[in-house]
Amino acid sequence: MPLKAMMLLLAVVCVWRVEEGVCFPNGSVASSCGDMMPVHPPFTPSISSPPFILSTSGATYKPGGLITVTVEVVKNSSTEFQGFLLQARSREGHALLWPVGMFTNIDSSMFTVLHCKNMENSTVSQASGVKRKKIQLTWRAPNNSNYGDIYFSATLVQDYTAFWVQLNSSSLRLDNSGSSTAGVFSSSVMLFINLLSLSAY
Ligand SMILES: *[C@@H]1O[C@H](CO)[C@@H](O)[C@H](O)[C@H]1NC(C)=O
Ligand SMILES: *[C@@H]1O[C@H](CO)[C@@H](O)[C@H](O)[C@H]1NC(C)=O
Ligand SMILES: *[C@@H]1O[C@H](CO)[C@@H](O)[C@H](O)[C@H]1NC(C)=O
Ligand SMILES: *[C@@H]1O[C@H](CO)[C@@H](O)[C@H](O)[C@H]1NC(C)=O
Ligand SMILES: *[C@@H]1O[C@H](CO)[C@@H](O)[C@H](O)[C@H]1NC(C)=O
Repeated sequence: MPLKAMMLLLAVVCVWRVEEGVCFPNGSVASSCGDMMPVHPPFTPSISSPPFILSTSGATYKPGGLITVTVEVVKNSSTEFQGFLLQARSREGHALLWPVGMFTNIDSSMFTVLHCKNMENSTVSQASGVKRKKIQLTWRAPNNSNYGDIYFSATLVQDYTAFWVQLNSSSLRLDNSGSSTAGVFSSSVMLFINLLSLSAY
């Protein structure tokens, strides 16, 4: 086997199982964590307008906070998807290529969690080839605020020949204001200053 194909095999994960056991060792039904590209030779990603919508429960996120992510087919579309790969990403540094945060409360009868880049539960895929019109998952933001604005990215597989790679949600702004303690702090400082000015009279 050529070295390149070997490297690819090592890097891939099986994300598309139409029937139990159909996960070819040659990587034909595999996808990379990094570029989220299914390996479905000779087919390349569809360039038609994707019949899917990626939406989130909020336009901002807090460190450690939860976000509900929904992937669904556009209204009235007869399209269904039998495979997907979903991650959150940041546009900062290395996170451009790798997931951030983790998915939580995962229903393992419907979903498979992947530990892309050794990041536990950072990526979710389907558990079977059941056709779906909608999935919903809960994502937990990293505890720190190193990642700035984030967005969700999904690869959707309709069938072996038709798939859309890295559809992106709108960006979620990092809401770092969360420190209500800062508010309390500044109002007590204000009170202190007021007391000082009172005593100056
Ligand atoms: C991979 O294996 C499957 C099943 O044997 C076969 O149908 C497919 O054509 C193979 N793909 C490549 C690229 O060899
Ligand atoms: C979707 O289907 C419903 C019922 O058939 C129809 O009333 C509605 O106009 C359709 N919406 C779009 C965007 O086509
Ligand atoms: C990752 O997901 C699995 C399956 O849902 C769960 O058992 C495990 O506790 C999760 N890990 C973390 C760190 O939440
Ligand atoms: C994030 O903080 C929560 C609450 O303090 C803690 O339970 C969790 O383990 C932390 N997660 C990580 C990845 O450090
Ligand atoms: C989603 O964002 C990534 C990173 O910026 C980009 O490479 C990719 O082309 C985007 N996807 C689409 C469908 O525009």
